[in-house]
Amino acid sequence: MKILVINGPNLNLLGKREPEIYGSETLDEILEWLTATAEAKGHGLEHFQSNHEGAIIDRLHEAMGQADGIIINPGAFTHYSYAIRDAITAMGIPTVEVHLSDIHSREDFRKISVIAPACVGQVSGLGKEGYLEGLRKLVQGRPV
Ligand code: DQA
Repeated sequence: MKILVINGPNLNLLGKREPEIYGSETLDEILEWLTATAEAKGHGLEHFQSNHEGAIIDRLHEAMGQADGIIINPGAFTHYSYAIRDAITAMGIPTVEVHLSDIHSREDFRKISVIAPACVGQVSGLGKEGYLEGLRKLVQGRPV
């Protein structure tokens, strides 16, 4: 499968940003591990990170007809970006929402995802393993 991994705002700061919540690994380290693991299973991975809502939406549009599945950690956009949710719905590409931390056991505003209803699944609280779990969900949900 051709998988697009999207990481939203502040995830470029992984490793430095609240390591007690998000871990000590950088985004590059996580992506290197994820790419190697996905490739070993025969999947191709592309990655995009942006701190800008519109740039994420543009990248989702570009994925149309290109990607077989999307793994997205929308960062704080999770909790209020109806525009990203609409873009995911419009693309019609199976998408899994991933969070490093457990959004359901943190502040109340994090418990709500406006994006999850547009996704085929949500993974939360597994750290970097969550991205791999997202890949598993995409592969399982693939039409045969
Ligand atoms: C996050 C959780 C969000 O609430 C937060 O705004 C993030 C990271 C996570 O991966 O745990 O930026 O998506």
